[in-house]
Amino acid sequence: MGKTIKLGLLGSGTVGSGVVKVLEMNRREITERVGRPLELKKVLVRDTGKKRPFLEGKGIEITDDINAILQDPDIDIVIELMGGLHPAREYMLRAMEAGKHVVTANKDVVAQFGQDMFDTSEKQDVDFLFEASVGGGIPIIAPLKQCLTANRITEIMGIVNGTTNYMLTKMSEDGCDYATVLKEAQDKGYAEANPSADVDGLDAARKAAILASLAFNTRVQLEDVSVEGITKITPEDIEYATDLGYVIKLLAVGKDSEADGVDVRVHPVFLPKSHPLASVNGVFNAIFVRGNAIGEAMFYGQGAGSLPTASAVVSDVIDVARDIIQGKFGRVGCTCYEQKRLCPLEKTVSSYYVRLLVDDKPGVLGVIATAFGDAGVSLKSVIQTSLKVTDHAEIVAITHPVQHAKIEEALAVLKDLPVVDEIRNMIRVDNERG
Ligand code: NAP
Ligand code: HSE
Repeated sequence: MGKTIKLGLLGSGTVGSGVVKVLEMNRREITERVGRPLELKKVLVRDTGKKRPFLEGKGIEITDDINAILQDPDIDIVIELMGGLHPAREYMLRAMEAGKHVVTANKDVVAQFGQDMFDTSEKQDVDFLFEASVGGGIPIIAPLKQCLTANRITEIMGIVNGTTNYMLTKMSEDGCDYATVLKEAQDKGYAEANPSADVDGLDAARKAAILASLAFNTRVQLEDVSVEGITKITPEDIEYATDLGYVIKLLAVGKDSEADGVDVRVHPVFLPKSHPLASVNGVFNAIFVRGNAIGEAMFYGQGAGSLPTASAVVSDVIDVARDIIQGKFGRVGCTCYEQKRLCPLEKTVSSYYVRLLVDDKPGVLGVIATAFGDAGVSLKSVIQTSLKVTDHAEIVAITHPVQHAKIEEALAVLKDLPVVDEIRNMIRVDNERG
């Protein structure tokens, strides 16, 4: 067996500790599969005084000095698991400039500075792998970069945020409101103390940018993704969805068509209960891909957590180790070989659920239907419910597919009608599978 391949780990929190455990738990298999032993030599942390039993007694050096890793000529692979943009980005660039291969789970850096990373890895002839950055333990980056490359991918759609999927599942199963399920998600350690990146959709938007860039071979930046979170979803919306045969999911959606260009968004969607993504519940993630040869494919599993995410990280490390043995690097580098046109949000087409609070009196339904019709929005179905306690009613309209600009135009008119008290919500409806 050849020379040991040495690793430097930046960060030993949730995922970093999982990496240490997986390397240990599956040492024999990993060594056989690589053909050489892997050894974790040094770990960078912020606080060297913190108790880390999983690192004790193994001869691993714990340091708070990045140079101890970057300037160590023995270290072949740097695994970045600190998170955040800075200094993670700079440390990874410096590692590659020092001739080290980099593996990361950092979606923030990949979504925002992916091009810098790929350019540097190409220039330095080193590997840069990031499987765990989307979908935690679910294999999706390698399938897009390798196994599905015979296809033209036209659609990629995923539940890529476990926290919000857990919250929407709980709202649907237990009828709880948003604030209650958020507290539960925080108590269980899924949502951060500041849950904004999850509930406002930014975490999913970063993952959407990464997935769309890979699927459509064009660089999609974070700012190209239109984002809407789940903060406006109420138990009433969930109840209407259930009654109408749908579930509400926060989806990352990417579409590529020759006519309209590339359209990437994150928002809640009414999904028919028969859709493969509709039964993905709790903290689980899934990514659905449509290609012109494979048809439909779906990747499902644990989108976060210590060991599942470490599974993806260590698999990347094994890939790099194999490349080290072969002496061939960057075999599949940046896959964005063209710059495709982006479809502006106003031109995107969807069906919509619109819930309005209106006066409960004769003729109101007609006024509402006329306002939709005048804006060019055709209605598929309308439900009217009288609210017992007041002289108000709720109207729920489901539209036929319509351009986003048209639905916005209709809502602008509806909002100013004297009979309309409030536009309570507007959520996209996915009826595309017929
Ligand atoms: P975490 O639990 O907060 O751990 C972060 C680690 O990095 C800690 O050990 C911390 O040191 C260290 N660190 C942070 N900033 C540092 C700095 N400036 N210098 C030195 N050390 C620093 O984070 P995590 O949940 O493991 O996430 C790591 C990465 O994986 C992130 O990019 C995240 O988005 C990604 N990811 C996480 C999950 C998940 O389930 N958690 C899933 C998929 C992807 P101390 O221990 O001393 O504080
Ligand atoms: N906050 C993320 C989630 C963690 O809830 O899915 C994984 O990126």
